[in-house]
Amino acid sequence: MKFIKLESYEALSRAAADIIAAQVVQKKNSVLGLATGSSPLGTYARLSEMCGAGEVDFSDVTCVNLDEYVGLRAENEQSYRYFMNKNLFSHINIKPEKTFVPNGCAEELAREAAEYDALIERLGGIDLQLLGIGLDGHIGFNEPDEFFTKETHVVELDVSTIEANARFFARREDVPTKAITMGMGAIMRAKKILLIANGKKKWEILEKAMYGKITPRVPASILQLHPDVTVIYSET
Ligand code: F6R
Repeated sequence: MKFIKLESYEALSRAAADIIAAQVVQKKNSVLGLATGSSPLGTYARLSEMCGAGEVDFSDVTCVNLDEYVGLRAENEQSYRYFMNKNLFSHINIKPEKTFVPNGCAEELAREAAEYDALIERLGGIDLQLLGIGLDGHIGFNEPDEFFTKETHVVELDVSTIEANARFFARREDVPTKAITMGMGAIMRAKKILLIANGKKKWEILEKAMYGKITPRVPASILQLHPDVTVIYSET
């Protein structure tokens, strides 16, 4: 695991965008695994700028997102599909049909989950997976549990996750309690992993994930077993 500490969120975002852009420059038809949340906002803004300046070309890239809330439609401003369209896809030259986010409104969520894994397999797996980390150590929405779940699956969100995400909703009651998330199988099979975290409050869990015991109680700790992980952290 390579650990990089940078002086600011701005520097973190530039460094993360450079790694993603380098991946796309090296392999035009890369499959990028993407995350939502506040951590990647700066990275996505920087990638949008780089694409606008002709420094990176997303026309052959496919993106598969980690997760989506159950029950939120794409038009809902709190859905992760909406977030991705607003913060990245509408600013870069990716083909909309090459952007995938699990459908949290699918009639049969178990089937949607199985189809999402089949899609990732058909794409040949993920070349570079971008991750954030939750305060409880979750990656995607793989919450602390007694075991790691391999496949894409539906999860009940932890109270701490609901509270952390309430900042994006008008009322706490509006935060969905369930999500559909990629499992550890697709994440761990990604050829490269880039985890970004900023803010002092993330440090304690990040340190546990990187150097502590490998346990499903700290889901991100599984990344210690991956051969190519870069973690970028900034205190601000
Ligand atoms: C979102 C996701 C989550 C977030 C995590 C950190 O797609 O997969 O694991 O990365 O909750 O969220 P922020 O960046 O908002 O602190």
